[in-house]
Amino acid sequence: MDNAIEISALTKKFPNAEFYSLQGMNLSFPKGQISGLLGPNGAGKTTTISILCGLVKADSGQARVLGMDVARDSTSILGKTGIVTQQVALYPLLTARENLNYIGNLYNIPKKIRKEKIDFFLERFGLTANADKQVRHYSGGMKRRCNIIASLLHEPELLILDEPTAGVDIHSRTMILDFLQEYNAAGNTILYTSHLLEEAERLCKNVAIVDGGKCIVQDNIEALKKQVPGINNLEELFLHYTGRSLRE
Ligand SMILES: Nc1ncnc2c1ncn2[C@@H]1O[C@H](COP(=O)(O)OP(=O)(O)OP(=O)(O)O)[C@@H](O)[C@H]1O
Ligand SMILES: [Mg+2]
Repeated sequence: MDNAIEISALTKKFPNAEFYSLQGMNLSFPKGQISGLLGPNGAGKTTTISILCGLVKADSGQARVLGMDVARDSTSILGKTGIVTQQVALYPLLTARENLNYIGNLYNIPKKIRKEKIDFFLERFGLTANADKQVRHYSGGMKRRCNIIASLLHEPELLILDEPTAGVDIHSRTMILDFLQEYNAAGNTILYTSHLLEEAERLCKNVAIVDGGKCIVQDNIEALKKQVPGINNLEELFLHYTGRSLRE
């Protein structure tokens, strides 16, 4: 099977940090599926994603996205990949429509198509009625939904989402998860992180459990559950591999 993402022996120590954030991270995620990157706080999920989208440079190791090397081809990668960042990345003083128009313009999407796409996604994400309100007045769920639209305007074949459902209510979450399933059914690949393991179990075919800057285990969820006797669900599996000590 073709992999959308291949990561081998990545290491990263931030200049001001005492410890390595990534200590030889190995991961691979197949094309055409929804995969989960799971791990406790500080495990290295966001650092890994930041390297994949070219925001952070690894100290050593290799990462390939859609067959391209992140160290050399980050512009081409970003043309085919949508990134939904953990922190909402929108201008609070602009309206949703203005934010999306600005981002669509950065991707050189022609004006007429840009407007059609923005209208389509605002409707699909339930934001049409509030499209002309400043984002600073939005609820957490509305900001997250708008943040996702911003990553979709250039129709990426790979969508990477860092905790897209953090802090959102059940209605927004259900909408977001339904959309991700729909986007995957259209042939696109999705990698997402979440601390909500029930949600990940419902959504993902494969998961990687990472901790301390390394991948502990990675496989099809059903196969992983079978490997450990007495495990009934992803939460039990996660605790089995990551233990119960508190993190940062
Ligand atoms: N810019 C930075 N400078 C210094 N240390 C950093 C920086 N970014 C991350 N770290 C450290 O790297 C480690 C991994 O952080 P990272 O944000 O990748 O974890 P995470 O798995 O995304 O956690 P969370 O679930 O809390 O989002 C942590 O110890 C964090 O404090
Ligand atoms: Mg993170």
